[in-house]
Amino acid sequence: MPDAAAIDSIFRLLDRPVWIVTAADGRRRGGLVATWVAQASLDPAAPTLLAGIAPNHFTCELIDARGAFAVHLLEPRQTAVALAFALGTGRERDKLADVAHAVGETGSPLLADCLACLECHVIDRHDVGDRVFFLADVIAGERRGEGPPLTEQQLLTAATADERARLKDDWRADIELQRPLRKDWRAGLKIEG
Ligand SMILES: Cc1cc2nc3c(=O)[nH]c(=O)nc-3n(C[C@H](O)[C@H](O)[C@H](O)COP(=O)(O)O)c2cc1C
Repeated sequence: MPDAAAIDSIFRLLDRPVWIVTAADGRRRGGLVATWVAQASLDPAAPTLLAGIAPNHFTCELIDARGAFAVHLLEPRQTAVALAFALGTGRERDKLADVAHAVGETGSPLLADCLACLECHVIDRHDVGDRVFFLADVIAGERRGEGPPLTEQQLLTAATADERARLKDDWRADIELQRPLRKDWRAGLKIEG
């Protein structure tokens, strides 16, 4: 068996930027916090981005329905905004109701207050059971501030004990729900493991 704690401690050496991923389909709109977002091309003339979104999240449903999404980096001061997108699901409340935003050319909500945002058109999707990896063309981008973006560790440090407990509960529930999805997907692979 791999040493799960040792492996986890290595991943914890990284302090990843926090992204707010938003999407909308008609009147349905929402968003979540994601750390699994990365630049996916070297060529500045053809920018692409890869986002790993869990299939049980409302935002995943919206991205699939519309074929588009937007990603935002926040200022380090914007921990409350990030927590509002990280806690709970857009199936139960409109996460954008109290957040100033415009609608971008892809129909995705664009947060008015952020460090930077990118609008993306999905060009491919790869379903690996517990994640859907969306490969997308970046069709527009706006940088509104200087300085480094809000990071995961800054967010977790700013959260209250109650908020941290709720995040942990959500993570546990996500893992329970996603494990069988990953298992089913792996069972269909030709390689062992
Ligand atoms: C620091 C942090 C990083 C996260 N990264 C991801 C991620 O990369 N992909 C993802 O699908 N969910 C991620 N989540 C979980 C979602 O933000 C969270 O479950 C959200 O409430 C789902 O909302 P929705 O159902 O409205 O889409 C992360 C949460 C936190 C706190």
